[in-house]
Amino acid sequence: MMPFDPNRRIGTVTQVSPDAVYANLDPVTQRTGRLLLGGPLHGGQVGDFVVFDCDNYAVLGRILEVKLPERERMDIERHLGHTPDPHPLARMHLLGALQSGTERVIGGIPSYPTLGASVFAASPTLVTHFASSFGQHDEPALQMATLNLGSVRDAAGTVVKINADHIFARHCAILGATGGGKSTTVARILDQCLRDELFPKIILIDPTGEYGPIAKNHKSLFLGTSKPPTGEVAVRIPCEHLQDGDYMSILAPSPAQRVKLIEAIQSLRLVEVLKKPEFADDLGLLTGFITGTGLITKFGKRRADYYDVRTKAQIAKLVEDPRTPFEFSSLSSQIMNECVEESSDIWKVQPYLLAQGWCQSLLSKINMLRVSAAWTPIFGTTEPKSIFSELDAFFRDSNTLLRINLNDLSFDFHLREIAVNLIGRWLRERVRNYELTHDRPVLVVLDEAHHFLNQHLGEEDFRQPLDAFEKIAKEGRKFWLNLVLATQQPRDIPPGILSQMGTLIVHRLINDADRRVVEAACGELDTAAAKFLPSLRPGEAVIIGVEFPIPLTIQIEQPPKDQRPSSAGPKYSSWLQQKAPK
Ligand SMILES: Nc1ncnc2c1ncn2[C@@H]1O[C@H](COP(=O)(O)OP(=O)(O)OP(=O)(O)O)[C@@H](O)[C@H]1O
Ligand SMILES: [Mg+2]
Repeated sequence: MMPFDPNRRIGTVTQVSPDAVYANLDPVTQRTGRLLLGGPLHGGQVGDFVVFDCDNYAVLGRILEVKLPERERMDIERHLGHTPDPHPLARMHLLGALQSGTERVIGGIPSYPTLGASVFAASPTLVTHFASSFGQHDEPALQMATLNLGSVRDAAGTVVKINADHIFARHCAILGATGGGKSTTVARILDQCLRDELFPKIILIDPTGEYGPIAKNHKSLFLGTSKPPTGEVAVRIPCEHLQDGDYMSILAPSPAQRVKLIEAIQSLRLVEVLKKPEFADDLGLLTGFITGTGLITKFGKRRADYYDVRTKAQIAKLVEDPRTPFEFSSLSSQIMNECVEESSDIWKVQPYLLAQGWCQSLLSKINMLRVSAAWTPIFGTTEPKSIFSELDAFFRDSNTLLRINLNDLSFDFHLREIAVNLIGRWLRERVRNYELTHDRPVLVVLDEAHHFLNQHLGEEDFRQPLDAFEKIAKEGRKFWLNLVLATQQPRDIPPGILSQMGTLIVHRLINDADRRVVEAACGELDTAAAKFLPSLRPGEAVIIGVEFPIPLTIQIEQPPKDQRPSSAGPKYSSWLQQKAPK
């Protein structure tokens, strides 16, 4: 590897402190277009990697600043017949070390460079070696699973092999401004996972529908109202998976309406619960209350007869359990039936007209849900299969990847957020019930995660958090459920979630608040790396994480052409061409 190739010598150390090394650079380093063995020779510019000879170690560093001594600052202008010879200075920080002879990389700085020591430009091969070496020696007996994500600068073709364990041992977040290359990185990670069968089960939640190409030979579920694209299976989220809190926040009832809504839901649940054979006797006691269409009527009936059954411990437990399903299509009729005046023993014979008046707006909202096209994936016909029976089948079959295409779901009424939250909740319940086991870890990939994290439904007095993925981030790893989140707004990730992310793959970030989030999430070494974030090119990313002692900048390799995400944005350039005059 020859870390100390004399042709790569670029300067001399002049000052050393715990967090920085200063050097005089050779003036030649400030000339562009230098070559070594036919390849570009970088060294001496901000961002370049350098290497120092320190006793038995080759210590890797990175240039953070180059400048001229103050006395030369004004003389640098070219004068007639005289080209000034600059004496540039560099400030560098140290990243990690390579033990000479063993090629073993260690984090931390075992010894500092001495004054007068030479500074060498680190070769791309050396940087690649550093990048690929973390954790490799930990368990030599185990064959290490690696991800080939891309290469370091100037070393295209030499892939950096990253220990998959380090990316997936904790959750992973892919951050970056729009167009930075997040979706491409997600596709690359998926490509690598599928190629090497790293995860037995991968669930890809695709809000923009752009991952069609990578899921071409796998199953894609389609949640929407239009005709599904060829090869995708239309599914729905049956409304029985909605819980009381979901209804409260979707319907946003007034305090008086809320009481009637809860009573109606519980009455309808009672009808369902009494269908169970073990409650046949109780059903007998309430036959006078239940209509042929499965409603409960209370008008003119004795309250005590009803509550004798309704409050039995076993029945009450089921009726009050938000997970017990009920017949949503009967909800508005049942609310009308709840509009009875509460008097002493007997519910008054006449429907309570005043209450029906209060409930009108609630009834209209419920009817709107039943007929609105946008809501058909949840409240529509029972025709497409349930997404959850498909997910169940996926956990049992031998397929590796299941994609859920949400592209066609409406952006209105928080429908997307609700749908993703329901999927997250279902997954979380499955893993909590230990239905997934250590030999079948599951990777859940969520793109455009800023739409789905830190979201609430409902008004001030009844705020319902949509926090299924936050809960998965906090406790999923215990149950072998790993997350990969991609988002363009790191500032929207709740701090509790960000701290659960073991690895951050950070593409170009311009927004100050976003950069501060990344800086706060990583240690001091990485804060220096965060300074490079605004100037990253598309597809270039810094990999930061506890397992990566050196924050690495990698050019992520695009997946094969036919597997890249197909961002179907408007093609303005073809519109903005100058048209031939008519
Ligand atoms: N690794 C890469 N190498 C080369 N070009 C890339 C790479 N990644 C992305 N690009 C370029 O950048 C464009 C945008 O990439 P991508 O859709 O992955 O960005 P994104 O961060 O997901 O954007 P958005 O936030 O809009 O979803 C791609 O069409 C491609 O031209
Ligand atoms: Mg994207």
